[in-house]
Amino acid sequence: MIGANTLQEFVVARQAEFAGATGDLSRLLTDIGTAAKMVNRHINRAGLSGILGAQQHNGKGSTNVQGEAQQKLDVYADDTFTRVLQSCLKVGGVVSEEQPGIIHVDHSKRGQGRGYGKYVVCIDPLDGSSNIDVNISVGTIFGIHKRRSPLTEPATPEDFLQPAKDLVAAGYVLYGSSTMMVYSTGCGVNGFTYDPSIGEFFLSHPDMKFPEKSKVYSMNDANLDTAVSGVRNYIESCRHRGMTARYTGALVADFHRNLIQGGIYLYPGTDAKPEGKLRMLYEAQPLAFLANQAGGSTRCHNHDLLHVQPTSLHQRTPLFTGHAAEIEQLVAQMHSAVEVR
Ligand code: AHG
Ligand code: MN
Ligand code: MN
Repeated sequence: MIGANTLQEFVVARQAEFAGATGDLSRLLTDIGTAAKMVNRHINRAGLSGILGAQQHNGKGSTNVQGEAQQKLDVYADDTFTRVLQSCLKVGGVVSEEQPGIIHVDHSKRGQGRGYGKYVVCIDPLDGSSNIDVNISVGTIFGIHKRRSPLTEPATPEDFLQPAKDLVAAGYVLYGSSTMMVYSTGCGVNGFTYDPSIGEFFLSHPDMKFPEKSKVYSMNDANLDTAVSGVRNYIESCRHRGMTARYTGALVADFHRNLIQGGIYLYPGTDAKPEGKLRMLYEAQPLAFLANQAGGSTRCHNHDLLHVQPTSLHQRTPLFTGHAAEIEQLVAQMHSAVEVR
């Protein structure tokens, strides 16, 4: 590893590319890396440490704000990331999948005398958490916005409700056969692999781009019959073109594979769930930002998701993301859809 870039070295070196950069965003990104190491350690030992299974509350299975069952590791990952983010002086507020409202971060109350930080963070602390008990990959997804409201006041919903194109940074951690952190600050996408023997992330995937040829489509087949018009025809065209299906049930893992092997991820609206399942602020937007930086594009049905103005903290959105040429083909199928269901 001599001469290799650690995550911290790389983040700081890249900071110099931004005129007037203060190092605040670099600090925040390296803090996210630290929290990822803590969660990684827990995930790796999950079967041994009694942390598999559903979180219990008053003798019943616990649910989050969206009524979804919480796993013990959802709660652990949420505690860890939100605790680390709250101790970062650069953070003024956090929205987490696992908590209903904005977590306000007032550093003066913590005796740090600095008021509220200038960034807000949207986070899915543990993505694909139903994979945990069966030892399949899971992830963390994050998006970082610069606040619009005065830093003398608590963060407002408008600080979080910004289009994906205005993110200052976004990324994910994939806890897979190895653990990786992949992020972008708007100057390309770079991936770092964790070396547990050293306790550091090292640059392993510089300047990631979707390969020109797409091999894979990722969609839950159970939704095909009721998906919005055009999706079925598009999937048939993928099959005719020799593409293959891969779907793990963890968005981070599916997105990462498609970024490396070439492909497209689809979670469309369905008859029963017109808005689909995925969440705008901490699933769709960060991945749309990364896809755009990697030669891909992202749609929420008829709109370019990068430009969509979100309206609520936990809103759901249909999501199509992958190589730009595949997204174009999908959009063409949606426009000319004459499907008979
Ligand atoms: P989370 O565990 O954060 O709630 O996310 C699960 C999401 C996403 O990771 C995945 O792509 C999708 O749910 C899978 O949904 P289906 O089981 O409906 O296919
Ligand atoms: Mn998720
Ligand atoms: Mn989650």
